[in-house]
Parts: sequence; C-alpha cells; structure tokens
Amino acid sequence: QLIENGSFQWSAPSNIALVKYWGKKDNQIPANPSISFTLNNCKTITKLAFAKKDSSTSLHTDPDSFSFDLLFEGQPKEDFKPKIQKFLERIEVYLPFLKEYHFTIDTANTFPHSSGIASSASGMAALAMNLMSLEKALNPAMTEEYFYQKASFLARLGSGSACRSVKGQVVVWGNQSNIKGSSDLFGVEFPNDIHDNFKNYQDTILLVDKGEKQVSSTVGHDLMHNHPYAERRFAQAHENLDALISIFKSGNLNAFIKIVESEALTLHAMMMTSMPYFILMKPNTLEIINAIWKFRNETQIPVCFTLDAGANVHVLYPENVSEKVLQFIKDELVGYCQNGQYICDEIGNGAILL
Ligand code: PMV
Repeated sequence: QLIENGSFQWSAPSNIALVKYWGKKDNQIPANPSISFTLNNCKTITKLAFAKKDSSTSLHTDPDSFSFDLLFEGQPKEDFKPKIQKFLERIEVYLPFLKEYHFTIDTANTFPHSSGIASSASGMAALAMNLMSLEKALNPAMTEEYFYQKASFLARLGSGSACRSVKGQVVVWGNQSNIKGSSDLFGVEFPNDIHDNFKNYQDTILLVDKGEKQVSSTVGHDLMHNHPYAERRFAQAHENLDALISIFKSGNLNAFIKIVESEALTLHAMMMTSMPYFILMKPNTLEIINAIWKFRNETQIPVCFTLDAGANVHVLYPENVSEKVLQFIKDELVGYCQNGQYICDEIGNGAILL
C-alpha cells in the first residue's frame, strides 16, 4: 500500500448556479439547496505531485505539519497558500495520509486571470479530484460512486459551490426532499430526465468588471445570518428548485427564464438588503440586462441572463439560437464589456483525469 511518489493531473470546470446558494451554516452546510449547469471551457487544470516525506529532502520531514509548494501558471504563488493550508486542515480527518507526503500543486486556469470569473469552484474541485486519486491509489477497492461522492464532499469543504463542479451536466447540492439522493454534504447529478431543449445549453460570459470584488462571498454568506429576509429567501430557493424539476421535464423555456432571472436578481437583492449592504452589479450590468430584455421582447428568442457574486453577466440560451444570439452580443453587448471581452461556454460534463 505504500506509494513513495507520483503525480496526477485533473481538470475541473467552473459552474453557473440557476438556483443560488447564498447563506450557510457551520462546516459549509448550505442554508438552501442550489442547482447549476456545469461549464465546459472555463476550467482549472491542476497537477498534484506527491512524495513521501522521509524519501524526500530534509526540508520536508516535519511529520506534524502539511508540506506543499504551490505554483500558479508555473510561478510560485505565496498568496494562495493560506487558503490551501486551511483546506488541508479541514479535510485531514477524511484523508489521514496528508501529513505523510510533500505535495507540489501546479495549477492554471483556461480563463484569463482576474477576469472576475471565480476560480474557487474549479480550483478546489480540481485539487479535491487529485487528492481522491491518491486516496484511491492507497485504497484501490473503493467504488467509482464513492470516489466521486467523496471528491464532491471534499471540494465542498474548500469552497461550497466547488462541490457542483465534479460530475454531471446539471448538479444539485443541498437536501431537497423530492430530488433523489440530494444532500447537504455533496453535489449529485440531477437524477431525472432533462428535455432536449436544454441539450448543449450555451453560456456566454460577458466580462463587465475584472476588478477584485469589494465584498468576498465568505462575507456575503455570513451576512445572511440575521438577514431580515433570510428565511423567506431560503424557502423560495426550495420552491424555485421544485419548479425547475418540472421545467427540466417539460422543456418550458419561458418558465425557465422566469426562475433563472428571478434567482439572479434575488441573490443581488439579498446583498443590497444585508447590513452592511453592498452592490456588486455595475452600471453596465444593468445596461446588459435591459438590452437582453428588449431583444427578447422584440425577437421572442429565449435568451436570459444570470449573475453570480459579481458584475459579470452570464447569457444563457439554447444551442439552436446560437447564431442569432451571438450576433446580438457582438452588435449590442460587447460595448458594455471591459476591453470588449467575453467567453463562450456551454454545458459540460465535469472533472476529467488527464
Ligand atoms: O462557493 P462560494 O462560497 O464562493 O459561493 C458562491 C455563491 C454564488 O456563486 C453567488 C452562488 C452559487 O450557488 O454558486
């Protein structure tokens, strides 16, 4: 069972929530269930090299501490280390071998650095997959189901939404009584059939503001404690997820749009009604939303928007209207993007061992 050294490499995608996770209890337990589309192109690729401490240099022999080097796009990256350190501390009880190895974590994103696209979901998922590969190498008997479930469980402890970046095109995280297998502890593939209208659903991400967020999602989640509308909001997330179950079955895109846009605006409404209150949307976020509404009214093309915890806009639409929507984006929306930048993405399948 002793493995002296080796390496794995995984890619893990970002995801975009349709019903949003906003608010949590201790140990990264979500205050309400969420559901997301897994993305395909926006991803983190992480190589994990490991070496038994006693077989490596004397620098790494302290048996009582974690030992790792971190490279981001090939360069040492000190400022990411505390987050990784905290992650390792949280998951050590589930992966007792962690202190026996020295790790080199070599990571890169396919999307531009500081594009305002959160890399925590894809980054934590990619790291969790690698650590699970080592765990599987040490315990070869584990089933594939256990492997992915535990990977999602570990990713959750790194960053909540990361647990939805492991496996499946549409992923539910959080207990919802009428979704089979759903759990607060890990993400699961949406278990029901999904109408062809959602096949290859497109997500074009408009980069409105690439700056550092003024309020981190950690702080934002915390502000849902003692929030005047929290309980109603958590109940609404259950209702919206319930509505999506039948929408995914029927393929009703107008109903889909209503839920998804309402969820995005509700997320930001929670931020604006926190104490202290804050606004992450920018003027161009609103310009884009209004332009999408006008275009949809005029053309009846089922395109809609969603937002995560930032100013960027995700434009969601079915594959069969891609050409018209991309033309609209180029003609009318690119001007609202910072340096005209946007990223074309679509539904993907989850993490991949490279
Ligand atoms: O995973 P976190 O803690 O960064 O929170 C992400 C929260 C949202 O992106 C705003 C919503 C979601 O469900 O992904």
